[in-house]
Amino acid sequence: MELTVQTAKPYRILLERGLLAHTGEKCAELFPCGSRAMVISDSNVFPLYGEQVMDSLKQAGFLTTSCVFPAGEQSKLLSTVESFYRGLAEEGFTRSDFIVALGGGVTGDMAGFAAATFLRGIDFVQIPTTLLAQVDSSVGGKTGVDLPFGKNLVGAFHQPRLVLIDPDTLSTLPDTYFADGMGEVIKYGCICRKELFDSLLERDVKEHLEDVIFQCVDCKREVVEEDTLDKGRRMILNFGHTLGHALEKLHGFSGLSHGEAVGIGMVLIARAGERAGLTAAGTSGKIVALLKKYGLPVASDWSMEEIAEATALDKKSAGKDLRLILLREIGDAFIYTMPHKNLISFLKP
Ligand code: NAD
Ligand code: GLY
Repeated sequence: MELTVQTAKPYRILLERGLLAHTGEKCAELFPCGSRAMVISDSNVFPLYGEQVMDSLKQAGFLTTSCVFPAGEQSKLLSTVESFYRGLAEEGFTRSDFIVALGGGVTGDMAGFAAATFLRGIDFVQIPTTLLAQVDSSVGGKTGVDLPFGKNLVGAFHQPRLVLIDPDTLSTLPDTYFADGMGEVIKYGCICRKELFDSLLERDVKEHLEDVIFQCVDCKREVVEEDTLDKGRRMILNFGHTLGHALEKLHGFSGLSHGEAVGIGMVLIARAGERAGLTAAGTSGKIVALLKKYGLPVASDWSMEEIAEATALDKKSAGKDLRLILLREIGDAFIYTMPHKNLISFLKP
């Protein structure tokens, strides 16, 4: 399966089992033989797939090198990216060379940021290996790192030149990260693919994984093409995220995963939309049923006041408008603007 994302410089997304072994030949369609390629990966993923990717690149005539960092969000720092810059500089990378991001969203975001900024921008290829990265983060060009005062606060839009999705890599992904990615998969069903949503209820996701990934990526492609720089329509990708982020914050960013938090966020906001007459009755019930089927939580112990309060970045946002993502019904999302101060009454039964 394949798609092309029509951004300023269009790029292909290839989706196929066993694709990892063809990394070199796919890159050779874009980059001249003899170019340098740096594989950036984390300490869990590189031992599993690094050799295969490096070998494939070498066979295609690329001069390969690698940079491996300790796995986990705690590595998503400017200092880690600086270690990539050091490697790129030591190896004499120029603008005709490229980076290969092999791993989950943390790897893709950091390797992409290094590519966006080294020599004011070099090319990069995404090889996502988590469900979350395959259905979401590897497409669309959002790259960046965390700062001590907040997640993803520094970054750049930098589209990859190619995305290679090999669903076979998910066979080694721990269940907890698979479940986490399901939060985003269900989100895609909610915002733009009713057929996907229904099929996830009727069948097990693993029976038709390639089709599920394809549908999510196709939805992301559509949205990114319409609003590459995230100034309007792309915000629908944040369905469930405003309240989800608040819940993650209340949990001190541990104990509740991103996918779990987004799941609860989707239920709460759909319920509020139904009460306000903006969302079709029964929508939140359908979301609850699907989240439960995939072992994701559907409620939290925090009060609506606490959740609403935690959505405020700072005191100043209280006087500002909030753009919430609501559903008209499953498969149809829209942006709803309201004063931030009205959020508590909007959320409360
Ligand atoms: P991750 O990259 O940390 O991967 C999760 C864990 O799975 C890690 O321990 C990793 O080593 C391991 N892993 C990855 N692939 C594996 C495999 N095939 N087999 C075994 N283990 C494997 O986290 P993630 O959940 O993929 O991504 C989360 C990050 O993505 C966050 O930093 C978030 O901000 C970012 N994100 C970015 C975008 C975007 O558009 N750029 C969108 C959503 C999320
Ligand atoms: N994952 C949100 C975005 O790409 O815009």
